Amino acid sequence: MNHLRQQAQEILQANDRGGFTVPTAGLYPFQWLWDAGFTALGWMRFDEQRAWRELETLFQGQWPNGMLPHIVFHRPEASYFPGPERWGTPQASPPTSGITQPPVLASFVRRMLEGARDRALAEEKARALYPKLLAYHRWFKRARDPEDTGLMACYHPWETGADNSPAWDEALAQVPVDPDLPPYTRRDTGHVDPSQRPRQEEYDRYLSLLEVYKRDGYDPLRLYTQCPFRVASLLIDCVLHRANRDLRALSQRFGFGHEAEITGWLSRSAPAIEALWDEQAGLYFNRDLIQNGPIRVGVSASFLPLYAGSSSPQRAERLAQTLRSWAQQVRYLVPSTDPSSPRFEPQRYWRGPVWAVLNRLIAWGLEEYGQTELAERLRQDTLALVRASGFSEYYHPRTGAGLGGGAFSWTAAVFLDWAE
Ligand code: SER
Repeated sequence: MNHLRQQAQEILQANDRGGFTVPTAGLYPFQWLWDAGFTALGWMRFDEQRAWRELETLFQGQWPNGMLPHIVFHRPEASYFPGPERWGTPQASPPTSGITQPPVLASFVRRMLEGARDRALAEEKARALYPKLLAYHRWFKRARDPEDTGLMACYHPWETGADNSPAWDEALAQVPVDPDLPPYTRRDTGHVDPSQRPRQEEYDRYLSLLEVYKRDGYDPLRLYTQCPFRVASLLIDCVLHRANRDLRALSQRFGFGHEAEITGWLSRSAPAIEALWDEQAGLYFNRDLIQNGPIRVGVSASFLPLYAGSSSPQRAERLAQTLRSWAQQVRYLVPSTDPSSPRFEPQRYWRGPVWAVLNRLIAWGLEEYGQTELAERLRQDTLALVRASGFSEYYHPRTGAGLGGGAFSWTAAVFLDWAE
């Protein structure tokens, strides 16, 4: 077997804690929502039973109201902060965080179902997961878009997946640091060089937001009007739009009969995402829901309406041009921040580095719009990064150096599923 393929499989096996896969030992010792989705795609390439189990285990953390939390703390681990005590959510068994993450799962379940070798197993598992996915998507609509705008209100940079993206700088700066913030010790900077992680000012605000949630009893509708951080995130909205298309296809396939309800959601989210387009920049921008205005910084998520499938062919062509202009400024696509932005930091987490998972989603969209050359470029760049620097959490877009955590599950999974 190909050496890298073998290594990728070994990473998933070594990160397997019995039913769930940690993103990487030490730095992230629990199960994360969108990591689990990508990881399942990787497991699918060599152990289908285990792939389905990843998702079943994740859904053990689903809240009674349908919310799927971004971290499930299956068992105690001191190497990470903030743990379940600090989150203080009402969810006890297993304990979880209190926010969600980009909802890739319905799309990935459909992909797993369609690509499965064991058809009977896949039918059984996907059918059993469907009601949980539906409950999750209904929660989104009810809790995060009660006014039916078509965009979801997002309450934490962690929820967007792109924690310290420059897109959130202004919105996060408006979050007051809690004067009674209980003292804490960061653990992330004990695992990874601080120059590759979010800054301390950001952490104080990340943690202050948890105090707001606890005070508000994790009441989503109260947070909808009171949370001091509220943005519409392309990572959430585009991924959810795509996931709703795939959920509708699953409903139809299994005869659940929810197509009209889901079509209603899609008819709101498509124009709402398209309203985030900026003609001058040739990009989509995230939106600050408190200031009620666009966040004018280009980020890798700015290309995700291709993955959503909401763009017109003209806008898709324009996005491809913008991406080619980014390619002039870095060696590897797709940097997480526009390299011409003064906020671009090529080694700091979501402020510049390349992430294999974003490449995967963007390339998926490019392919569907017929931009096959650019999609192939993303695949080749991802492969080249893995060859040069192994299975890192993220990579320097100019030097290709591996950054963040090593032996990283979702990078190994994206390699197995796509890049190889
Ligand atoms: N990504 C966050 C962290 O770094 C949590 O989701 O801990």
